[in-house]
Amino acid sequence: MCGIVGYLGFRKAYPIVINGLQRLEYRGYDSAGVVLTNEKGMQLYKTKGKVAQLKKLAENKDIHGNLALGHTRWATHGIPNNENSHPHVSSSGNLVIVHNGIIENYNTLKKELLTRGYTFKSETDTEVLINLIEEVKTTNNCKLGKAVQLALTNVVGAYAIAVFDVTKPDEIIVARLGSPIAIGIGEKSQEFFVASDASPFIEYTKDAVYLDDEELAVIKLGRAIKIYKIQDDSEVEPTIQELKLNLEQIEKGGYNHFMLKEIYEQPNAIIDTYRGRLLANNGIIKMGSVDNNIAKFLNANKIIIVACGTSWHAGLVAEYLFEDLARIPVEVEYASEFRYRNPVINKGDVVIAISQSGETADTLAAIKLAKSKGAFVFGICNVVGSSIARETDTGAYTHAGPEIGVASTKAFTTQITVLTLMALKLGNLKGEISNSKFHAYLQEMTLIPSKIKETLKISSKIEEIAAIYKDASNCLYLGRGYNFPVALEGALKLKEISYIHAEGYPAAEMKHGPIALIDESMPVVVIATKKGHYDKVVSNIQEIKSRNGKIIAIVTKGDTNVREIADHVIEIPETEEAFTPLLATIPLQLLSYYIAVMRGCNVDQPRNLAKSVTVE
Ligand code: F6R
Repeated sequence: MCGIVGYLGFRKAYPIVINGLQRLEYRGYDSAGVVLTNEKGMQLYKTKGKVAQLKKLAENKDIHGNLALGHTRWATHGIPNNENSHPHVSSSGNLVIVHNGIIENYNTLKKELLTRGYTFKSETDTEVLINLIEEVKTTNNCKLGKAVQLALTNVVGAYAIAVFDVTKPDEIIVARLGSPIAIGIGEKSQEFFVASDASPFIEYTKDAVYLDDEELAVIKLGRAIKIYKIQDDSEVEPTIQELKLNLEQIEKGGYNHFMLKEIYEQPNAIIDTYRGRLLANNGIIKMGSVDNNIAKFLNANKIIIVACGTSWHAGLVAEYLFEDLARIPVEVEYASEFRYRNPVINKGDVVIAISQSGETADTLAAIKLAKSKGAFVFGICNVVGSSIARETDTGAYTHAGPEIGVASTKAFTTQITVLTLMALKLGNLKGEISNSKFHAYLQEMTLIPSKIKETLKISSKIEEIAAIYKDASNCLYLGRGYNFPVALEGALKLKEISYIHAEGYPAAEMKHGPIALIDESMPVVVIATKKGHYDKVVSNIQEIKSRNGKIIAIVTKGDTNVREIADHVIEIPETEEAFTPLLATIPLQLLSYYIAVMRGCNVDQPRNLAKSVTVE
């Protein structure tokens, strides 16, 4: 889950790599480094901390050169310090590497290399790998590409790597297993870009090759790239894709933080998600990947949903949607647990994997397991061409656009949008939703973006509430039915960006433990919308109030009942019960955002987190 950027060509490499690293900081930001070559040899700068610190370190230093590799790290092996930062250099000083992933057998390899006289400056698995490559290159007296290929056949683990030889500055070797890597190709192969995703090079080229697992690319100036299978060295024809991303999409566009921008993008993101799929006036939901496999969905014994984090919360919303609207049994599983507990998966089961990044290692492994047991696997991803999108049998993109803030916002609501469309379609085909009700649902769905816009307009009120509770140490989130996963998601948002301890609970479960925590300093966020067990939730609010808890209630517009009891109410427009998560989530995202900003937290890059968790 580190970020890799590389450049080889005719431009100054340093600014390209530094800007690219800043775009990839969402992948990790414990330390950063860059290596360049020029006529004076290798220039290496690396430091603990963010890319901004690296920039400071390199100020007034020699940064010229047309070949560079950069790295922004999320520490796995070895604490974040200068020595453990990438790039790493081989013992001879000739080979350099940047790496994203984990070499699981690094200890065995290291012991072997130590006996052969290699020395190590860091505690990382990556330094072991570059020395292994050097050892293979020296022993076989072969080219760098061949040495990397042979070395990788001895490696257990996951990697995306970029390597070059300081003495041959016209070539970069790139390889991948389990961690993503994209190669941007300039005109007539006069320049090449390497990056963990395409964002570092979109202003330079729209032509990109995404390496598949177990592939290695030899990138040489003035020549078309060559791709080989790591296991047997056989050559593979590169597939050049045209990038659809543009620069504006990955910039802040006047917002203070990406997270705020992405919260505000939700109305349009949802429209982008349902465009061409939700044909409300014709009374149709058209989803090619569902339509083409409709029998599998309609005859499914059960749907198993696998995901992590916020995507897992979207899966929980889907459990309510599929069971309520389509009467299909659903199990929602943490991918990390599912993959290790010998789950019962039958041939007739449909597995849905949900992932914004499409790179989450546990979700990817759960998919592979489900496929090995004969299940049909459907992916819901945001990042086009990502590993999960490619590994699943078929799927639907959310089309939310790049999500850069580490805390997931628009990815969540657009995932729910896809899942809602699927549940509605299946419910109607199964006769669980009458045609007239189906039409009403579709019409209501088209109103969701404007209802989100309406909710966003009350942000200043939410900011005022945030100012009151910004110093809280704990916070409880309660909801029932469709709003239970929303409560979980609200709590996750608060804890990850503001570092306030927060828990989400089904409102009724409060009595079985959490109620003991309630006192006058405990804010409790309760989602108490009109439909969805309203009276029961109101009783829960009374119970909290009797114990002097502070209530922040999310209510349906016009509600007067809860207003009388709660300390604060935040109104959201009325909608179908099944669509409530799409609206109720918005004020919770804003509340977390404002609290985190007021506490001086780094909203877009919370400590210890990374956007794309490509290690298990
Ligand atoms: C929370 C968050 C994470 C991700 C999780 C899964 O705001 O962003 O919990 O949801 O790491 O990531 P994806 O969806 O990329 O598989």
